[in-house]
Amino acid sequence: MISRKIEEKLNAQVAREAASSQLYLAMASWAEVEGFEGVSEFLYRQSDEEREHMLKLIKFVNERGGSAIVPSLEQPPAKFTSMRSVFEDLLEHERGITNAINELVHITLEEKDYTTHRFLQWYVEEQLEEEALAQTILDKLKLIGEEKGGGLYMFDRDITSMSANPATDE
Ligand code: FEO
Repeated sequence: MISRKIEEKLNAQVAREAASSQLYLAMASWAEVEGFEGVSEFLYRQSDEEREHMLKLIKFVNERGGSAIVPSLEQPPAKFTSMRSVFEDLLEHERGITNAINELVHITLEEKDYTTHRFLQWYVEEQLEEEALAQTILDKLKLIGEEKGGGLYMFDRDITSMSANPATDE
């Protein structure tokens, strides 16, 4: 059984994962319209993964005697200024999520909730991978150094083979 406090904090994380999914969906759609097929495919997949992260939390909260709250959705930006800004935003966003997960882990220890603490280790691992991937992608974009042309074409082709997910399938 989870405490009220843990339930509330986990539900806040549900909302963050939902917001991540929405943000990446908006990025995917933008990339699709701009003609970056590979990037849009990658971002649609990231959006789906965030939804999975949300679902995993919802199920955990309910299984542990709490009640998950399905959050309302905020509209993410419809336009992005450049490919680089998309991935800068993505990395920034993931860093914020990592901080939120770390804070949650800290609270579970304070509350002596070792079951939730263990459950959250999956997210700790996932964040490590996601931040590393976002950083790798940004480094590639910095190397390309321009927003249009051959470099970005190759980038769009190569990104489809990249994934953040060793820890996902459980
Ligand atoms: Fe589920 Fe990328 O944070």
